[in-house]
Amino acid sequence: MKQKEIKIQIEVAQFDELSESDRRLVELAREATERSYAPYSHFRVGAAIQLDNGEIVTGANQENVAYPSGTCAERSACFYAHARYPEAKFESIAIAARDTDGKFVTAPIAPCGACRQALLEYETLAGHGVRVMLCGGDEIYILPSVASLLPLAFTEFT
Ligand code: THU
Repeated sequence: MKQKEIKIQIEVAQFDELSESDRRLVELAREATERSYAPYSHFRVGAAIQLDNGEIVTGANQENVAYPSGTCAERSACFYAHARYPEAKFESIAIAARDTDGKFVTAPIAPCGACRQALLEYETLAGHGVRVMLCGGDEIYILPSVASLLPLAFTEFT
């Protein structure tokens, strides 16, 4: 039997090491946590998407008393970005979160499976890797693409 190995590449950066445009995206993702509506989990997540038309679209998790009706920050951002600018390609996304104590999480959080699948759709439309920045308190994990977060993804059917 053959073995296959799938590896992913993660850059780990300090905030100060980021380019000015990446720092801005991270700041906007952090700021977007303020617009989270999370009265049930009290876990506030923000996302900021850089588009190739120069616009940045942000989103935050929106919860609902009927739990499954809510949505994560990443999906609120990517659905809005594509609804508002259907022609624009995604370049990068930054994701930040505050824990139930209101402080930014120490360890970076990564998008849930459903958000990875949703983001992958826009990466496919972009035709290139959409950089993903996962923001922790000290460190920021940078992945080259959404696909690297979703190996063996379902991408097409005939
Ligand atoms: N959540 C996000 O918005 N993004 C993630 O990457 C993980 C989880 C939200 C969903 C829910 O509102 C809260 O965080 C707790 O799971």
